[in-house]
Amino acid sequence: MSTIAVTGATGQLGRLVVAALLDRGVPAQSIVAAVRSPEKAADFAERGVQVRDADYAQPETLARALRGVDRLLLISGTPGNRVAEHGNVIDAAKQAGVELIAYTGILNADTTTMLLAADHQATEQLIKDSGLPYALLRNGWYTENYLMELEATLANGFVGASGQGRFTAAARADFAEAAAAVLTDDAHATNVAYELGGDEALTMDEAAALLGDAAGQSVAYTDMPVEQYAAVLVQAGLPEPVTQVLADASAAIGRGELFTDSGDLQRLLGRPSTPIKTTFDNALNTEVPA
Ligand SMILES: NC(=O)c1ccc[n+]([C@@H]2O[C@H](COP(=O)([O-])OP(=O)(O)OC[C@H]3O[C@@H](n4cnc5c(N)ncnc54)[C@H](OP(=O)(O)O)[C@@H]3O)[C@@H](O)[C@H]2O)c1
Repeated sequence: MSTIAVTGATGQLGRLVVAALLDRGVPAQSIVAAVRSPEKAADFAERGVQVRDADYAQPETLARALRGVDRLLLISGTPGNRVAEHGNVIDAAKQAGVELIAYTGILNADTTTMLLAADHQATEQLIKDSGLPYALLRNGWYTENYLMELEATLANGFVGASGQGRFTAAARADFAEAAAAVLTDDAHATNVAYELGGDEALTMDEAAALLGDAAGQSVAYTDMPVEQYAAVLVQAGLPEPVTQVLADASAAIGRGELFTDSGDLQRLLGRPSTPIKTTFDNALNTEVPA
């Protein structure tokens, strides 16, 4: 049985990947949760998952964490210094001689001009240069991104610069299950890129209407030029560089850069992606136990 490591395993996606690996019957002791905060992974350890200290910024932890690992999922880290940090993980993977490195990148990485994509494009290049067999999991938007400021969205609606562009979001759990499918496929082809997106190609107007349906109220989408949207984000108190990236990401939908009809996600899942409305319904109508 191959040993499979997941970095960032205490993050939202990482937790779902570990759960999906267990669901697929991977023995807990064959899974390495490579995390920078082992105290957050006590529940994994209780289930028998190997928890190892792995900070992208501390190469010595990475060398130890990846010892004996056959297949590795590198979950992209937090913007800042992450290309160098990812480079540390790739170096350690090479040292460990992993047979597959999978990386959670961004949709349409070959062509996208999104500011947010630059780190992912640079990381993909480092992976290719390493000579390691790879699988690029180019994730589209998580549906959950639209639930992040739920209270404010229900009060004021969505604001953005996406125009009538269409995007193909999917639930975080779908992307996690797809990653688990790649990591557990013994006959997996190497040096492949998956363009991962959901079945539904929505405009922001349509996404707002679906959220409104789930919430039982009307939710509007207000579209504006990208500079104006950036100014709105500044006014909301976000730091200037972040506002540029976020406004550009919204405009990227208008440019079609967060759309795919590749069918890659659905093939890896062996089923359709989770309907957007289901994710919205689950978030809004989850019963709170008495
Ligand atoms: N496709 C999308 O819509 C979308 C949206 C947002 C983000 N993303 C990208 O996808 C990644 C996973 O998403 P997510 O929702 O799981 O994000 P998340 O919950 O913020 O998880 C990020 C994970 O990265 C870990 N991490 C960050 N810096 C690290 C470092 N220096 N060393 C080791 N681990 C480090 C964090 O560790 P801790 O648990 O210790 O904090 C956390 O486990 C994000 O990090 C981001 O790159 C994609």
